[in-house]
Amino acid sequence: MAADIPPFNSSFEYRSTLSPNPQWTYGTKVADTPVGKAWLEGEKDGWKVVDTATEDKLKLYQLMISGIVPRPIAFVSTVSESGVENLAPFSWFNMVSHYPPLVSISCSDGPQRLKDTAGNIKATKAFTVNIISEPFVEAANVTSVDAPEGVSEWPISGLTKEKSIHVKPPRVKESAFSMECELFQTIDVADPESGAHTTTLILGHVKYIHVRKDILNERGNVDPAKLKPVGRMGDISYSRVGEGFRIARPVWANEQETIKKAIEREE
Ligand SMILES: Cc1cc2nc3c(=O)[nH]c(=O)nc-3n(C[C@H](O)[C@H](O)[C@H](O)COP(=O)(O)O)c2cc1C
Repeated sequence: MAADIPPFNSSFEYRSTLSPNPQWTYGTKVADTPVGKAWLEGEKDGWKVVDTATEDKLKLYQLMISGIVPRPIAFVSTVSESGVENLAPFSWFNMVSHYPPLVSISCSDGPQRLKDTAGNIKATKAFTVNIISEPFVEAANVTSVDAPEGVSEWPISGLTKEKSIHVKPPRVKESAFSMECELFQTIDVADPESGAHTTTLILGHVKYIHVRKDILNERGNVDPAKLKPVGRMGDISYSRVGEGFRIARPVWANEQETIKKAIEREE
């Protein structure tokens, strides 16, 4: 660990601020806002264009995982057909739809075979996804160890198993937001050149959500200040959710006159 990295800032509190350009109006050019002008000056260094067909695979991986950020992380608990429990984090993860309630996780293949998570889900059709909060991120991270098949990551992590109500894999008790999922669909991704299997995209049907009451706001939704979720950045970096801001979603019926006038001014 580099000596010049400051310790984790435990006193830091999530807060809401105004958006970067609160005066922004329809049609305003990015260059016409102070932060936008400074942002566009970076373009003077030119562009690097990467042809994915010829780029080195490791470099492509590093570029993609550093550019497609921040990513939510699914902390996935599964059980093999023979009963071996498994736990691992996956940041190629997102919500797919709310009706039906679906999530996606994507597992690249291990060196010789499917990762245990993908193999277990294909075989047993069940898993839990647990959201990682700052207080137990080291414990969650350690479960990404390339443990041999048959070795459970649970005792290594020190995390606590909590029995699920619908699926066999337990959920992580320390997680304040967990989903019990049934396999909805898998998509096997193959390299179009070689035809070799590279990745398994898993869609999970969320059957039950367990959410700790203390992280909910008065509207019954999750308060990010209380959840303290971590995100995945490039290489081995994680991000915190430090500040947020709200921007109203324009409604055409209410805004059309203002929008039309702004566009006319531009033309
Ligand atoms: C934060 C984090 C996110 C990760 N995201 C993914 C991912 O999206 N897909 C993937 O295949 N591996 C990902 N990994 C690596 C897996 O966690 C790792 O390969 C793990 O050993 C897989 O476990 P399993 O073989 O027990 O399923 C990630 C690792 C970390 C630390």
